[in-house]
Amino acid sequence: MTQLKWWQKAVFYQIYPRSFADGNGDGIGDFQGMMQRLDYLQDLGIDAIWLSPHYPSPGFDCGYDVSNYAGVAPEYGTLEDFQRFLDGAHQRGIRVILDFVMNHTSHQHPWFIESRSSRDNPKRDWYVWRDGKEGGPPNNWYSPFGGPAWEYDRATGQYYYHFFLKQQPDLNWHNPKVKQAMFDVARFWLDRGVDGFRLDAIGTIFEDPVLPDHTVALSQIELYNAWRNATSAEEEAALSKQHEALHEHQVERPEVHELMRELRAVVDEYPDRVLVGESGEIAYYGDGQDELHLLFNFPLMRTERITPAWVRANQEERLSALPPGAWPCNTLGNHDSERVYSHYGDGQNDAAIARLSVALMLTLRGTPFLYNGEEIGMTDLLLADVHQFRDPLGIWAYQTETEVLRTPSDQAVVYAARFARDKNRTPMQWSDAPNAGFSPSGVQTWLPVNPNYAHGVNVASQLAAPNSLLTFYRRLLRARKQTPALIAGDYTPLHPGAQDYLAFLRSVSPMVEGADRRGSGRHRRAACQEARLRSGAYDQQTCLVVLNMSGRAHTLRFDLDTDTAHLVFSSRARDGRTDNLAHLSIAPFEVYIGELT
Ligand code: GLC
Repeated sequence: MTQLKWWQKAVFYQIYPRSFADGNGDGIGDFQGMMQRLDYLQDLGIDAIWLSPHYPSPGFDCGYDVSNYAGVAPEYGTLEDFQRFLDGAHQRGIRVILDFVMNHTSHQHPWFIESRSSRDNPKRDWYVWRDGKEGGPPNNWYSPFGGPAWEYDRATGQYYYHFFLKQQPDLNWHNPKVKQAMFDVARFWLDRGVDGFRLDAIGTIFEDPVLPDHTVALSQIELYNAWRNATSAEEEAALSKQHEALHEHQVERPEVHELMRELRAVVDEYPDRVLVGESGEIAYYGDGQDELHLLFNFPLMRTERITPAWVRANQEERLSALPPGAWPCNTLGNHDSERVYSHYGDGQNDAAIARLSVALMLTLRGTPFLYNGEEIGMTDLLLADVHQFRDPLGIWAYQTETEVLRTPSDQAVVYAARFARDKNRTPMQWSDAPNAGFSPSGVQTWLPVNPNYAHGVNVASQLAAPNSLLTFYRRLLRARKQTPALIAGDYTPLHPGAQDYLAFLRSVSPMVEGADRRGSGRHRRAACQEARLRSGAYDQQTCLVVLNMSGRAHTLRFDLDTDTAHLVFSSRARDGRTDNLAHLSIAPFEVYIGELT
């Protein structure tokens, strides 16, 4: 346990700065606001913050188009404000990692302005410039953000490549000067004391230099149309395969691995920092020590319903694929996805499912990442007026609907709102005051506030309520912190055929390992208890976790080393603190955690 690094023990909380807390009352979140909420975060019980981009940006992609990597967006504050926030977090024992956008800069970054100024500018080769072919772009690649991945630049008569928006030109990482400049950016923030980085879109950093055409028969708009009309998860999965094929030459190039190793070496110049990759690809762990520390278990979240069978299959595949020493990392939502509450809810048991979702995050093996607002059950807000859209993806979808597919505008806005990421980026709901206490009354917030703030979906109302989702989060985060097995333990699935519930052990003792679990169990247990007493540390512990994902009650029988467990946590009031594992009653949707005695 004590051997683990801080980022293996930590629970991360993603702050989307624009929407977290508005300190100066201009309708946009900022560092002053974040500072004021640090006590809230400490009290919530999280250990680390991932801050979405806080850099100066013209905002074509809500900050993921950076125009100065060594600064702070003026609407968020100054470098001094940033430092105060970082120091304030550290004083409370909270680490902070930044978002590092490596694939592209803003088209307004001075490097790009220079690069596009002439063909022989020294920065020309800092970006990906190519001649056109047969009067058109160099090849048929698309940007997943809509339209071709090449933009013609009249001034110099060439095309530049942009995987994302045309306002986000790709850097040419083959150029050693780009690498040096960007590694210096990393050092700039590491020198200021940040604890690491979440690496944006790493899979897109390199593309096939031969520029082969993709061979997908459907156009991007035809694929979008098919996705929008899809009626089943299977259909959507088949379409996302085609979508992958559309971009196959633009992503996941082997060169990324060498770059990750080099970046790791830079970060390792500083003690105890962490790199988290925005990718589900296990390959970026490298040999377990030489590339990234953490990669999100994105496959887990790619489902409409979290079922026990889904989680078991995911864990079996994921954990067995990790290289030795690599540490898992789980999440169910972020600023690009649907809100957890909306995504996995069934419309009837949403509150219970939200509790199960966070319980899953906090009990599976690996570092959990939570997204701001999840803890109060914030839901997706589907905007009804296209003028309120801020996400370029939503605007592209609306234009495609109305201009290409000829969808009536009232219908188009419904589809586009579902496609856009604005729905999960609305301001944090702090209270039931106007504007949810995010901004003062009467101020127009950058995205509308979800009106459900007035119906209990806000921090202030939930803080004092014993049965609120927020109270559940706080209790469970506390329980996790006090239960080493939940942080450091191995994962052993139990009852592999159970349809309704997920049951597993988390164990930091050798008690449940090895072929013969029962034989000398009592002996081993006694030895463990003794060792625990001797060391004064809870470095030997086994917990049983049962997550009942159904509305049915169950009485379960577990055939383990011991027949009894001490209650660590339950989502309901249970009779007594000790349970009989040969006869364990589990209520509908119950979250149960017991320590084997
Ligand atoms: C990542 C970010 C997303 C952004 C994209 C381009 O996927 O999470 O929000 O739009 O990269 O930078």
